[in-house]
Formats: sequence, C-alpha cells, structure tokens
Amino acid sequence: MKKVYLKTFGCQMNEYDSELIRAILSEAGFSFTDDVLAADVVLLNTCSVRENAARKVRGYLDKIRHDRGGRPAIYGILGCIATHLKEDLLKDRYLKIDFIAGPDSYKRLPELIKNCISQVPKCPSAQEKKIKPYDIELSDSETYEDIYPLRDSSVNAWIAIMRGCNNYCSYCVVPYTRGRERSRTAESIVKEAQRLSTEGFAQVTLLGQNVNSYHSNGVKFPELLKMVADIDAIKRVWFTSPHPKDFSQKLITLIARHPKICKHIHLPLQAGSTAILKKMNRPYNKEDYLSLVERIREKCPDIAITTDIIVGFPTETDNDFRDTVDVYQRAYFDTAFIFKYSPRKHTEAAEKFKNDVPERLKTERIVFLNELQKDISLEINRSRIGKTEEILVEKISGREIEGRTIQNKRVIVSAQVPKSPRAQEKDQTPGNMGTWGLGDLINVQITSATPHLLRGEILSARPVDKCADVP
Ligand code: 5AD
Ligand code: SF4
Repeated sequence: MKKVYLKTFGCQMNEYDSELIRAILSEAGFSFTDDVLAADVVLLNTCSVRENAARKVRGYLDKIRHDRGGRPAIYGILGCIATHLKEDLLKDRYLKIDFIAGPDSYKRLPELIKNCISQVPKCPSAQEKKIKPYDIELSDSETYEDIYPLRDSSVNAWIAIMRGCNNYCSYCVVPYTRGRERSRTAESIVKEAQRLSTEGFAQVTLLGQNVNSYHSNGVKFPELLKMVADIDAIKRVWFTSPHPKDFSQKLITLIARHPKICKHIHLPLQAGSTAILKKMNRPYNKEDYLSLVERIREKCPDIAITTDIIVGFPTETDNDFRDTVDVYQRAYFDTAFIFKYSPRKHTEAAEKFKNDVPERLKTERIVFLNELQKDISLEINRSRIGKTEEILVEKISGREIEGRTIQNKRVIVSAQVPKSPRAQEKDQTPGNMGTWGLGDLINVQITSATPHLLRGEILSARPVDKCADVP
C-alpha cells in the first residue's frame, strides 16, 4: 500500500478538494501519512490566487526535498498552480515534478500516480527526458457530487455546492484555473447534509467561488440554503463567499429570520473607488455596496460583515484609496482580509495595465487599513461584553473550550476542570454545569474582548430552537 503525504495551500475550497482527494485515493487503496519522510507519494494541493501563495508552494517543495535528503518519491502538483503554470512546471528542471493534475482531474489521480510508479526511471537524465503525465483539462460538468469527502473536522463540514467562476474580475486567475461555473443538484447536496447530520456534524458550510449564484434545475441559492438549514439535526449553516451582485432581498430576509443560519456574511468589497471597481470588472459601485450593507443591517442588525480588499490595483490614486477608507468607516466591517495587488498571468488586469502602484505605497495602504480595522474590530467585539452568546463548541483542550457565536466570532471559555482523577474519569467534560462536548451549543457570558476573539464564562447548555417563521 503506497503512502501519500498531502499538503494543502490556499482557500477553503482547496481544503475541501483535499478531502475529496483523500476519499478518491483511499478508495483506490492508498493510505495517508502526516510524516513526509515516510511518504511514497508527495502531493501539494496548490493555490495561485496571489503571487506570495505561489512562492510559498515552491519554498515548501524545497523544504520537503531537503528534509527527505534525496530519498525518492513521486511528486505531484495539484490544484490551481497546476492549471495556471502547466508548461513552466513541467519544464522546470529544478522543481522535478513527476505529474500535475488540475482541479477537475482528481478522479484520474490513482491512474496518474500508478503510471508514475510503474515508470520510475533508473537515472536522473532519463527522469528529465521522460514525458511527464498531466491532466489539467477543465470540465463544464464535473462537480464531484458522487464523491463523499473524507473530512478532517468533526464539527463543521464543508460542502462545495458549485465550482468555477464566470465573473472574470480582471485581477483574478480563478476563472482560468478552475474553469466555468457549474452547480451540484440540490438533491445531492441535501442528501449529503442529511448524512452529515446523522454522523454528528453540527454545522454545514456551503462553499462556492461565487456561492450565491448557485442554481440547479430551478433551485436558487436561498431555496437551497433553507433546505439545508431545515434539516433537523443540523444546528448551524454558513456559506462563503457570496458576490455583492447576486445578493437578493430574499436571501437577506432568509438570513435574518432563520435562527440556524449564521449571522455572518463575508462580502468581498475589493475596492471602495467606483473607478477602480470598474477596472476590476466588479459590476457594482461604491454606493451600491454601501446600500447593500445598509439593507442587510436593516433586516438583521446583529449581523457580522467581513470583507476582502485589494490595495494597489493598477492606477489606484490616493483619492481612490480614500474611497476604500470611506467605505471602511461607513460599512464598519467586523474583520477584513487585505491583500496587495499582484498581477497574475492570463488575467485582463495583468495584460491591460502596468502594475504601477509602488510596493512602498501598497505597504503603506495595507498598514493603514489594518490599523483602522484593528480599532473597529475591537470596538465591535467590546460591545458584546456582558452579553449572553450561544456558542457552538469546536475544540475542548485542557482548561479551555473554544467555540463560535452565531456571528462566527471565536470565543474562548475557561472551564473548571473536575478536581479528582476519579471525577475526571466519570465526567470527561470540563466544567460542572452540565455535560457537553464537541458540536454542542452552550450559553456563555462574554467577559472580555480583543480585536480577534472574545472570552467568556459558561452559563448553561441549551438546546437549539427550531425555525418557526421562515419565508
Ligand atoms: N492580487 C491580490 N489579491 C487578489 N485576490 C484575488 N486575486 C488577487 C490578485 N491578483 C484576493 C481577492 C479575493 C481573495 C480571495 O483574494 O480579494 O477576494
Ligand atoms: Fe475571482 Fe471574481 Fe470569481 Fe471571486 S468572483 S473567484 S474574485 S473572478
């Protein structure tokens, strides 16, 4: 039985793809190891969304080769870099990759690996001459809905409900690396969520590059979200990442009214300046975005809104940047992920514009926004001190319980540990106010806050209400 070491880079979609890959390879008779030194096959599931993500993969590969001290293995590059840089990878004599497979080719992985194993060349020069196997064909229909992922977590399960993207934001490589948008059938998603609930998963997160453009046989995203949230034993449902252009009023009302849908929306803004948004090919302007935030907050005042920002997009002036700062101050994000623009091969922005904002200015803008965000996050988090929050328990370790509020905010709770070892044997759960474990909902009182997390004390374990009044 060949042992596989699989390392994942990048977004949640890639984490999910690695769960699919584990299922496909296990079914084909491969086993997995966390020890790179013990592996026969080393697979890197890569990300090429930003330049530094791609650099990380190269650095990691160097480290693995160094740690293995020349011991042979089959090396495979999977995911976005595979489709983005196919020729460069195969030609790169320094990287010495054995095969590459793109995001729609994972069902062929057992075959690709077995081909490599049976053709291991005897000497390095033969290795260089060998035609390397690859499959980076992008599909219009592959959704992997027939594969049940081998999941990592036991509390939250990701389900990719759609793959690919048709939006062609001018800076983004995803439409080229992951192909056209396609949705899974609603029946297959609901069936998978039901199975997850019987296996004890408390939360399901619906994933997609543009999750709210989901549609299949007349079922649109709000209908699907409700179907999943209505499953009895599922306690919470979240989704990521939506596009502001597809955020309907129906979706807002559903999020506001359904008690099991997380009150957290990750709503990528990218830039505050209408001129830059236009160049980014984002089909909304500054005012559209702010009015969407207002409509969301009006229906759901307790919502957490987070965002993605790119600073230093080509031609971004100080005035353009001021618009981003202005949206920041008005939208009042709970958290923001801020990136420096990096040109990506094949994209419209890379071909049309010069990367003309100096690195120093990009750094200044990122530092400025991060500082501003820290203050806003702290203020928002502090406003929760003294409140009672229901948290979903995700981790229990030593004297601490870690969970998330319905707004997806991390809460750390110090728990009283039972005193004697006998008592501990009888009651494995920390604390003495009830029995609970991973995936349970408990009430805590928030006692302190930082920009990144809340701390609290346990009040009680409480069963979830069923959704009563949903449109
Ligand atoms: N440069 C910088 N950031 C980028 N993102 C996507 N492409 C680029 C790029 N070329 C950011 C966007 C997106 C997030 C996942 O990555 O903010 O929402
Ligand atoms: Fe990229 Fe835009 Fe699609 Fe998001 S919506 S994956 S940023 S092209």
